[in-house]
Amino acid sequence: MSATAPRRVENIQTDKGKVPVYATGIIEQPWDDYGDEDHATWATLYARQREVLKGRACDEFIAAQDAMGMTPDRIPKFAELNEVLSKATGWTLIGVEGLLPELDFFDHLANRRFPVTWWIRRPDQIDYIEEPDLFHDLFGHVPLLMIPVFADYMEAYGRGGVKAHAIGADALQNLTRLYWYTVEFGLIRQKDGVRIYGSGIVSSKGESIHCLESDAPNRIGFDLERIMRTRYRIDTYQKTYFVIDSFEQLMDATRPDFTPIYEKLAQLDSIPAGTVLETDHVFNRGTGEGWLNDGDV
Ligand code: PHE
Ligand code: FE
Repeated sequence: MSATAPRRVENIQTDKGKVPVYATGIIEQPWDDYGDEDHATWATLYARQREVLKGRACDEFIAAQDAMGMTPDRIPKFAELNEVLSKATGWTLIGVEGLLPELDFFDHLANRRFPVTWWIRRPDQIDYIEEPDLFHDLFGHVPLLMIPVFADYMEAYGRGGVKAHAIGADALQNLTRLYWYTVEFGLIRQKDGVRIYGSGIVSSKGESIHCLESDAPNRIGFDLERIMRTRYRIDTYQKTYFVIDSFEQLMDATRPDFTPIYEKLAQLDSIPAGTVLETDHVFNRGTGEGWLNDGDV
């Protein structure tokens, strides 16, 4: 057990049997309880996404995923991934049942612990699932934690989250939008074109193709304050994707204290998910095809 490892507090009954629960809802990955169907779902999704991501995901993502040594044929063990990850960047994966209270989530990130949902979607949910599951968390998020600058960004985000939580709901909303448009749905410019790094995209076949190849969405250059004002979609593909030049750009732009930014943004209206502003650096102005008029959050 490492210095930051949480203390085991009880066992709870789940539909997969009893699992040990730690303080703040952390559980030990009940690896022996995965069935053949679970391993097959992982194998199918893993193989399919690796194929889709060729030439679409940024080189760093693919390299990081390779370096982790995730098993393609069966669900990886968190303990094995942790040996590689902790050596690389000092991050640790912790198992969770699902989404955590915001402050717990921020606190984990601030301490370089990444919560991973232990259960995997059912076969009939292969193409789409509303909640984050093991495939989204492990395949989508965890490789990025192998990249030193991104690993630092995630820790800084966690610290920023603890602070925003203390400031209030509006600050938290601004920060959540930043997470959404970078960590979950971010695009990055490489020498040979725009690629994907966002975890919500890399874990979805449909959106991996849509975000780069469809004319429907906007693709706009990264702009911190603009992103923090922009509403987003939780039920459809994004109307707008923001493109960074490098992970260093992301780190540099987010280094300053956000407190004055939150104060300034509190005076300004939010921007609908599909709007293009005159000040935007536009890579693609979306046609808006297939967009729903309401439902931006
Ligand atoms: N600099 C931000 C703040 O002061 C924290 C932060 C860093 C937020 C990185 C997001 C990403 O709140
Ligand atoms: Fe996610």
